[in-house]
Amino acid sequence: MCGIVGYIGNKKSSDIIMSGLKRLEYRGYDSAGISSFEDGIIFTSKCKGKISDLEKLPSIKNHKNYIGIGHTRWATHGEPNETNAHPHHDSNNNFSLIHNGIIENHYSIKEYLINQGVNFKSDTDTEVLVQFISYLYDKKKLSFYETVKLALQEVVGTYGIVVMCKNEPNKLVAAKNGSPLLMGIGKDEKFLASDVSALLDYTRNILYLEDGEIAQIEADSYKINHINHENEIIKDIKEIEFTLDQIEKGHYKHFMLKEIFEQPNAVKDAIRGRINNSNVVKLGGVLDYTDRILNAENIFITACGTSWHAAQIGSYLLEDILKKPVKVEYASEFRYRNKSVNEKSLVIAISQSGETADTLAAVKKAKDKNALTLGIVNVVGSTIARETECGIYMHAGPEIGVASTKAFTIQVVILVLFSNLIAQKLNIKKSKSYLDNLKKVPQLISEILKLSDKIFEISKEFVNATNFLYLGRGYQFPVALEGALKLKEISYIHAEGYPAAEMKHGPIALIDDKMPVVAIVTKNGFDKILSNIQEVKSRGGKIISITTIDSDTLRNISDYYIYLDNCSDIHNAITPLLTSIPLQLLAYHIAVLKGCNVDQPRNLAKSVTVE
Ligand code: AGP
Repeated sequence: MCGIVGYIGNKKSSDIIMSGLKRLEYRGYDSAGISSFEDGIIFTSKCKGKISDLEKLPSIKNHKNYIGIGHTRWATHGEPNETNAHPHHDSNNNFSLIHNGIIENHYSIKEYLINQGVNFKSDTDTEVLVQFISYLYDKKKLSFYETVKLALQEVVGTYGIVVMCKNEPNKLVAAKNGSPLLMGIGKDEKFLASDVSALLDYTRNILYLEDGEIAQIEADSYKINHINHENEIIKDIKEIEFTLDQIEKGHYKHFMLKEIFEQPNAVKDAIRGRINNSNVVKLGGVLDYTDRILNAENIFITACGTSWHAAQIGSYLLEDILKKPVKVEYASEFRYRNKSVNEKSLVIAISQSGETADTLAAVKKAKDKNALTLGIVNVVGSTIARETECGIYMHAGPEIGVASTKAFTIQVVILVLFSNLIAQKLNIKKSKSYLDNLKKVPQLISEILKLSDKIFEISKEFVNATNFLYLGRGYQFPVALEGALKLKEISYIHAEGYPAAEMKHGPIALIDDKMPVVAIVTKNGFDKILSNIQEVKSRGGKIISITTIDSDTLRNISDYYIYLDNCSDIHNAITPLLTSIPLQLLAYHIAVLKGCNVDQPRNLAKSVTVE
């Protein structure tokens, strides 16, 4: 959610922190700030807005020293303004702290500190933590590191924090609980960040902190403990594989567009090595768990947002094969209502970032109930990837645009592979034809992407629309939900997805000549959805058809007709991988035409690491 960067070494810290913050800006971006040691004091600059606004502050040039911390914020407590921006300080400016997460018991700590005479400047839970550290430091006379450790023993909530202390200027202290934090290891320099992309310019050697761990870091050494124990924790350093051009825009105007166009290759990468020439699926990360998976008495898929839409498609795929119910639950609900989960359950968690707080909590709940947990995750080494017992990495490459596009497609690819793996283990023959279809998907997506200009022209007609409906049946219903989410999150146009037949149970009342209706039409249920479209048409609605079936009838009742050539014979279960592409392009073009910031839509952040 918020972005964190820290540096200690022999270079100018503000250069490293600024470049890291820019790489993280997609995670949270309503305010930003930086602290460094200058002439024996902690010197801080912060402002409302983006990193580019921070860079324009006259005080920025005064940050010259070799140790510092920086933050880009997505507001949770207190409005986005300079006072609430991080880093936060204690009243004496002895400590500076950056934080990602939520200190849940900040009210009681704040009340206690106010009674001790501490004054607060901001509305944030983070200031409470830094004031608390400072209070304990004065009272207990412990070292900087021991004081932070003591403070964290009293804290309830989630955090990734990095702290500086005026009296120990050659050290940073960092700790993690529930929010991501990792350390980059260089020669005589150390880096801290909430996301590996902040460090790729400088190092590929990464060490992930786990929940409850606290590190004291100097330029040439570090030491890690648990906040509740004394023993030193020795960790493996991992080498990061992805490259800088994967997280840069290249010639594309936006990350979102780049990621939409990356989908043919992303699908190839996701299936590479996972289907052999005889169409046998092999997924190494679940191999040892096949029996438990096949014998699961009940299956849940849990996720949030776009990943939840992929989960819906997953439930259709698995139910088709297993002929038993598969429940899809919003992770935010599942974490609090999971009465039927037990040791015979399989709980599949889907997450691009692998850091979504609700999905992570859902995984932990499932583990508490001894269910088998399986992660479908994109970010390698992320918390959900580490917490789940078994899993399948997506290999979609980094996704920077806040609106998820290629991650959705690849989640569906993985679910197709996984359901086929199960089918093969159960000796269900039909699965092999599915896979021949899956192999054609990269080429078919490349063809669909050529419709981008046509979709751009259609988009011009809808720049002033205030509402949209998306309709689909069967596998196209979750696609409709995803299409509607894409449009609303980047263009701010209200949009809803519905099963097409549900229209007449209420939403049809909304139809008039100002209501655009996107109908997703494939061969399954073709006649039925045609009738649903007629019902809309006869009430004046504007029809945008996205179809794999070239039909004169459909063309004639559609105001705009987007035909996906060569897709008519593709298996029903594979079609979401095709029909979702024009919906991404439609949302993208409308949003750009409206002048919206598609990569960083208002109020949104890439990964939601708070509840
Ligand atoms: C997608 O466009 C969203 N921005 C959002 O719904 C996202 O899918 C959701 O927050 C879940 O994220 P995750 O996949 O990283 O867990």
